[in-house]
Amino acid sequence: MQDFDLVIRGGTIVTVADTSRADLGVKDGKIAAIGTGLAKGREEIDATGLLVMPGGIDSHVHLAQPAFGGPAMADGFESGTRSAIAGGNTTVLPFALQSRGTSLRKAVEDYHKEADGQSYCDYGFHMILTDPTPAVLGQELPALVAGGYSSLKVFMTYDDLVLNDRELLEVFDAAGECGALVMVHCEGYDAIRFMTEKLEKAGRLAPYFHAVSRPQSVEREAAHRAISHSELTGVPIMIVHVSGGEAMEQIRWARARGLKIMGETCTQYVSLTAEDLKGLNMDETGGKYVCSPPPRDRESWEAIWNGIQTGVFQVFSSDHCPFFFEGELGKKNPKARTSFRWVPNGIPGVEVRMPILWSEGVVKGRITPNEFVALTSTNHARIYGLTNKGSLAPGYDADIVLWDPERRVTISQDLMHHGSDYTPWEGFQVTGWPEATLLRGELVMRGGEILGRKDKGRFLPRALSPMAGRHGGAALD
Ligand code: URP
Ligand code: ZN
Ligand code: ZN
Ligand code: ZN
Repeated sequence: MQDFDLVIRGGTIVTVADTSRADLGVKDGKIAAIGTGLAKGREEIDATGLLVMPGGIDSHVHLAQPAFGGPAMADGFESGTRSAIAGGNTTVLPFALQSRGTSLRKAVEDYHKEADGQSYCDYGFHMILTDPTPAVLGQELPALVAGGYSSLKVFMTYDDLVLNDRELLEVFDAAGECGALVMVHCEGYDAIRFMTEKLEKAGRLAPYFHAVSRPQSVEREAAHRAISHSELTGVPIMIVHVSGGEAMEQIRWARARGLKIMGETCTQYVSLTAEDLKGLNMDETGGKYVCSPPPRDRESWEAIWNGIQTGVFQVFSSDHCPFFFEGELGKKNPKARTSFRWVPNGIPGVEVRMPILWSEGVVKGRITPNEFVALTSTNHARIYGLTNKGSLAPGYDADIVLWDPERRVTISQDLMHHGSDYTPWEGFQVTGWPEATLLRGELVMRGGEILGRKDKGRFLPRALSPMAGRHGGAALD
């Protein structure tokens, strides 16, 4: 008879492949057995009426990112990962941002100082490349990728982050050499600047005009350009935070051509619209919804659902990027009130990602529970090289969410564990909520109460993504 540290009994186990009534035994933080009639564990959890699913992996969150002259983020690792486990997550992948003129290695070291000993859940880092010098691409990047930082993000907009086409091509090429997975923020810098200046001249300054300044055509054009660069270099890319049908159709088109293009979408693109940016009356409360790309409209929600259902999107993330609404550091800062241009981009959402996808997706019949697991956990693990995560099978880390599929909750700031002073989903009703979260076999959240500790999360060096590398590219002869 096997002896278990913990047995979760009587629940329904949901993985990408199966749904079955079984017990799950944990030993030394790992899943040791799944079956019926398991021996008694030293501890037991009764999961009757609950679903037992892999803990959420949110592969797109921003924590403790420094402000470029703008306000500081509302979440460091402590509050951000507390919010993550409250929302059923056990791993997050935030970004280590390289500032121009500094080394990539320093960016990674700086983020470790922020994260280590301050994290309620496990974590890894994507790198953000803003200064792709020959030394960065030729020496630092390959060493860091081999050391477990196996993905990076590049931006096609933002003054402090944007890379031009030549730089994008050089980064893709270098990533192809060392096997890094490239994530791309697709919005066209020049088009946004053009629109922003036109809107400001016309006195259209309210947060709502943030959405007007970057319509879907701006995202679609950039997505097409990134796809073309991917084709030329033969290097697969993940197009992140796709907001609507236009960019989505570019991914679909590319995949139909056999190109290795992956897609990510986020909670806000199936649950918020640009109308939210109008606030109460074209006032600053619209700043609570400013993110990039902006949420679009209900037609776009349906396009995104279609993309989810037809496999255009492999991952569903939060793009958690929290700021304070009140106070001089936040969305009410005096500069932000002079123009939408200065409203910090990003919204807090790591805690509501899984409930909103369950409620809008599974409860409304758009996706199956197994697809939910793929979109919130398993695919993130497979794509980003988290080899011990994202599945319920012997040998995997016992990262588990116990899910109450019937619990009805009205989302409100009172319930949130994040650092922000608001949630964009205030009053949003969901069916389905995490009852408990287990990190490597330890209960870290139950019934909304945080039981874990901020020194329990571990840094996860990641394997190379099986999706990365080089697949063809333009011929040189
Ligand atoms: O507005 C957003 N999404 N801010 C976060 C940064 C990014 O582009 O992902
Ligand atoms: Zn460390
Ligand atoms: Zn982005
Ligand atoms: Zn982001």
